[in-house]
Amino acid sequence: MEKAAIILAGGQGKRMKSNKPKVLCNVLGEPILEWELKACESSDINNICIVKGYHGEMLDEYLKKRKSASDICSVLQSERLGTGHAVMQARDYIKKFLGGDILVLNGDLPFIDKETIEASYKLHKEGGCAVTVLTAILDDAANYGRIIRDQTGISGIVEKKDCTLQQLEIKEINAGCYWFDAADLLYALGELKNDNAQNEYYLTDCIEILISKGKKADAYASRDAVTAMGANDRKELLELNDIARKAVISKHLENGIEFTCTDGVVIEKDVVIGKGTVIDCNVSLRSGTVIGEDCHIGSGCVLSNTKVGNGVSLNYVQAYDAVIDEKATIGPFVHIRPNSHIMNGVKIGDFVEVKNSTVGECTSVSHLTYIGDSDVGANVNFGCGVVTVNYNGKEKFRCEIEDNAFIGCNTNIVAPVHIGKGAYTAAGSTITGDVPDDALAIERGETIIKEGYAHKKLWERTEKYEKNKKHE
Ligand code: UD1
Ligand code: CA
Repeated sequence: MEKAAIILAGGQGKRMKSNKPKVLCNVLGEPILEWELKACESSDINNICIVKGYHGEMLDEYLKKRKSASDICSVLQSERLGTGHAVMQARDYIKKFLGGDILVLNGDLPFIDKETIEASYKLHKEGGCAVTVLTAILDDAANYGRIIRDQTGISGIVEKKDCTLQQLEIKEINAGCYWFDAADLLYALGELKNDNAQNEYYLTDCIEILISKGKKADAYASRDAVTAMGANDRKELLELNDIARKAVISKHLENGIEFTCTDGVVIEKDVVIGKGTVIDCNVSLRSGTVIGEDCHIGSGCVLSNTKVGNGVSLNYVQAYDAVIDEKATIGPFVHIRPNSHIMNGVKIGDFVEVKNSTVGECTSVSHLTYIGDSDVGANVNFGCGVVTVNYNGKEKFRCEIEDNAFIGCNTNIVAPVHIGKGAYTAAGSTITGDVPDDALAIERGETIIKEGYAHKKLWERTEKYEKNKKHE
């Protein structure tokens, strides 16, 4: 029978003090909701219903942009009357899965994973349960609901605000993740009352309701309490980020990556790094980035969706949606913008920007240069301060610079322009027309010499200077 999930995301997360729903807050560059969706999808749960509330339109927008094969829908909880009330909004959805099971997830559990979802489902099915709750053992049960155990499984969950002094001592807590038999869930929702300390419809009351109807309930205690961690405010969110960050770094350490210092190092989950690569402090590697073996990623690098070949050395480089091939040396203070391809052995020095361009093998761009919308061949040499003038205020054009060309310092190359193989441009030229192979292009004013001109000027300036000094 098909499985489905309901994610409760109606809450505002007031203490987060955010203008968006809490589930859209990021942990390691990805919304908490995304972590949960991926956990469901990796457990083969591809029917997902999200209960939205506070800024629900932002959730819908997020889901629309998300590429996935899953069938994801949302229902609106227009009043925030508790977790039970939130699930009630999905009644029609639950009806579609009668005979099957529904995973209900609080929307703030980024670390819920495939193993936990599958192991709890196994317990749920093997025990013939109407409901199975995910629990965790915590030293400080804080504001979590307490699990009341009995000989066979569990007999209920008591919210902190409704606990007796004795129940407050319980260390096993409700993580906010449940497997329900769909029909049993529908039944229990119909029986929920809000006669508790918070006058809310508690989803957790379903356990007692089902047990009193003679159904079986059990609890699956997570192996790692981290699975149950959520965040109610920014401090807790930062803590989740830190946990996720360290877990990712630890995985890379095991894979043979060397970190000189992990301060300020943030590597998103899907990043791939080849063995022998060294990562210095203060490095951000964002989603989609793949780094080869034996690279050196120096301080201050930010790489997003960028492919880096083996043996590359980067230092204070920001690169977005780019490809950098083997043994390139880049930096410091270089910006590689989207759709750029830096080929094998290229050397790029300080204060260089490359945008939407190809830079061919072993080409050298040592300093203060802008290469935009250009196709640059192999073994080209750029002097200091070259600019490809790709934009006339209305349209953009491309520059083509062929292999072995030598671009003199401070050349402006006004696109569209073609510079032939091995051609030279004289320093300070503004090249507005094509340059044939092997030619030298000079496009600058001639030097005019006026002998003795400076004497008079210098005398005037000195006189003024002496006057000013006297008036002091
Ligand atoms: C809930 C559980 C508690 C558990 C804890 C785990 C209940 C009654 N209590 O408490 O036992 O230990 O989670 O974190 O369920 N939501 C809605 N609509 C609502 C209320 C909540 O969509 O009307 C959503 C929230 O957006 C959130 C989730 O449900 O994602 C949990 O709500 P929250 O208020 O955080 O529940 P807790 O009080 O923490
Ligand atoms: Ca909570």
